[in-house]
Amino acid sequence: MKEKLEQILVKASAELEAADQPQKLEELRVAYLGKKGELTAILRGMGSLSAEERPLIGAKANEVRTAIEAMIASAGERIKARETERRLAAEKIDVTVPGTPVRMGARHPLTLVRREIEDIFTSMGFSIAEGPEVEFGYYNFDALNTPANHPARDVQDTFYFSGDMLLRTQTSSVQARFMENHKPPLRMICPGAVYRSDDVDATHSPFFHQIEGLIVDKNIGLSDLKGALTQFSQLFFGPETRVRFRPHHFPFTEPSAEMDVSCFACGGSGCRLCKGEGWIEILGAGVVHPNVLRMAGIDPDVYSGYAFGIGQERLALLKYKIDDMRLLFENDTRFLHQFY
Ligand code: DAH
Repeated sequence: MKEKLEQILVKASAELEAADQPQKLEELRVAYLGKKGELTAILRGMGSLSAEERPLIGAKANEVRTAIEAMIASAGERIKARETERRLAAEKIDVTVPGTPVRMGARHPLTLVRREIEDIFTSMGFSIAEGPEVEFGYYNFDALNTPANHPARDVQDTFYFSGDMLLRTQTSSVQARFMENHKPPLRMICPGAVYRSDDVDATHSPFFHQIEGLIVDKNIGLSDLKGALTQFSQLFFGPETRVRFRPHHFPFTEPSAEMDVSCFACGGSGCRLCKGEGWIEILGAGVVHPNVLRMAGIDPDVYSGYAFGIGQERLALLKYKIDDMRLLFENDTRFLHQFY
């Protein structure tokens, strides 16, 4: 029986040495030490031994049991350590590998121009207003001294929905809306999209953007308009910029003008950008027509004001020397990524 115990120890030692999985280790534990295990079977069979043999075999059996338990414990440690090593190797992250680059977006040139214009006018005390692109004919035309039979409608009359609704043709509609909710003194700009039934070419689009401006207060006149727009032009195009007003007609202003800035590329001597003119037109403006104030419930004998409408695309084309307006709307990212 003693030999048998020694054999068990040798065999267990070899098998435990080879065990490399937790479940294999558990099987071995059951096989040797479990209720039906080999060692247990021997201990059970001790009843048939003589009184001298029994304590000797008993002591030997306990020794073998302790040895097997110790081997199981150390095999368990070994298996666990190896498993940890394997996982560490498998989950290793090489932090020095270059990442997948994320392509950064860029601001659209129209956004850049709008923000710059907003910065300039808010620094002059203007607030920023908004109005709907789907508009009533009333705000787009009638409230701006442009009744149904007015010839000025022809140039802009466009994209009607049923009834009196249309896509606004000018941000001037926000003038009328703003004056309904604000009493003078008031000073606002309104950037936004407008629509007209123009065909698409290098300088036209049925969809474009304007920035409207309106100020109403006591004693506001053409000189204030000229001062503010000169300052704007010099901040936007550079301190050397001069401005020039040409008489024009808009139904909602009287007098009305179109404003040119001296060409910032050639300084006024004439070049490709200004088509040899030395001047570049950038906006329409004028002193607010008394009828417009009256329609808004403002007394034109007490208050006066000026208004202007800037073409946002035009300023973007000029500022970034872009020669085709379509580039602004085609969303070709190779083009758009050049601006920030
Ligand atoms: N709304 C005009 C247009 O679209 C531009 C304009 C001219 C706006 C004169 C104004 C203004 O406020 O006073 O052509």
